[in-house]
Amino acid sequence: MSAACFAEMGNNVVCVDVNPKVVETLRSGKVHIYEPGLEDMVRRNAAQGRLVFTTSLADGLEKARVVFITVGTPCREDGSCDLRFVHQVAREIGQHMKDPKIVVDKSTVPVGTADQVRAIVAEELAKRGMDIDFDVVSNPEFLKEGDAVNDFMKPDRVVLGTDNAESAEVMRSLYAPFARSREKLIVMGVRSAEMTKYAANCMLATKISFINEISNICEKVGADVRDVRLGIGSDHRIGYHFIYPGVGYGGSCFPKDVKALITTALESGHTPSLLQSVDAVNDAQKFTVARKIENYFADQGGVEGKTLALWGLAFKANTDDIREAPSLVTIRHLTERGMRVKAFDPVAGPNTRKALEGNDLVEIVDEQYAALEGANALAVVTEWNQFRKPDFDRIKATLSAPIVFDGRNLYSPEEMAASGFAYFSVGRQA
Ligand code: UGA
Repeated sequence: MSAACFAEMGNNVVCVDVNPKVVETLRSGKVHIYEPGLEDMVRRNAAQGRLVFTTSLADGLEKARVVFITVGTPCREDGSCDLRFVHQVAREIGQHMKDPKIVVDKSTVPVGTADQVRAIVAEELAKRGMDIDFDVVSNPEFLKEGDAVNDFMKPDRVVLGTDNAESAEVMRSLYAPFARSREKLIVMGVRSAEMTKYAANCMLATKISFINEISNICEKVGADVRDVRLGIGSDHRIGYHFIYPGVGYGGSCFPKDVKALITTALESGHTPSLLQSVDAVNDAQKFTVARKIENYFADQGGVEGKTLALWGLAFKANTDDIREAPSLVTIRHLTERGMRVKAFDPVAGPNTRKALEGNDLVEIVDEQYAALEGANALAVVTEWNQFRKPDFDRIKATLSAPIVFDGRNLYSPEEMAASGFAYFSVGRQA
């Protein structure tokens, strides 16, 4: 993503990946992930010679002034961040570097990682008896999956963590074409930049857990979270964004980053009670759709032997990513209790099939309405646009009874009731 966007602005970019298959796919003009607009950009820039792909880090380094580390930083069992790949790339950079470089950490990494990268590169240079000038800059990324091209091309801000004036200038000029004003380029210390990334994601996760908690209270006390959201969002200090209640946040970022900051805080001697609650509220929220379904069928012999139609598998719309997806929690919880699930997603079907291989109670179908055939109820878990205005008559005619569990508040409770549906949504009265 970063490579394609930098190339789009006229830079020459060499993309390095250890996986020959990924490099081959990219060379053939295809992108191995689903991200609207990315494939076109990759093809265009590759055709014009500004974007090339290789498995050789040495080749990639050859002419580069700036080297970005953009590898994954998965979550370990204990919630801490696994920096194996970052360290490996740093080591290889130190092994192959021949002239001064600015090494940039773009991966989401805990505070202190830039110092580790610096030490590893220096160690490798020392082994080779080389004394080459280099700097390590932290430049966290704030892209949303599904809208990443837009976020990169028109960022709200670019955070540049460096204590070196020359690196700051190089990075400023690299990003200047993307930022409409100079104020969008925020230069700060390396550790502050690393911390900014976690603070941003944890703040957003906190907003989501907050509104989910409010929605759970709304359900109990007879309030409607739609109105509450409008009522609080109109205060510009709060704002309307990121206070949509739902099935809990998923994806490769929020769950991992909240856990990683909790670990960092604990290691530093601080107990992050708020973040621990954000995490716990989210874990519980992911079960809410399944719990409502269980409760509904409790006096009809339970969910065992029943079939659920499920729309939406991706952790959010416009992506095929199912990492930490609430749909998986719903499916696993219900199938463990003997319910069958017929699921549909516009793009995440193949990934889900792989993830749930061996679970005979799950069937992934290729058409939205086919999921309804033989089902006792419908649950909507991801907010894809095509689910927003479905053919309700067809839903009613196909399900064995008109029951809808809506994890994203896509429909109006009043209209659903008027059409004869038993309708259960989030933070509103049924
Ligand atoms: C998130 C951040 O939004 C990006 O700024 C950040 O760069 C990125 O993580 C990252 O660290 O790489 P992303 O994980 O792609 O981006 O997805 P979001 O659009 O933020 O959604 C995350 C989850 O929160 C989804 O499951 C979504 O359904 C949920 N969500 C979001 C809500 O439940 N309610 C909301 O109001 C908003």
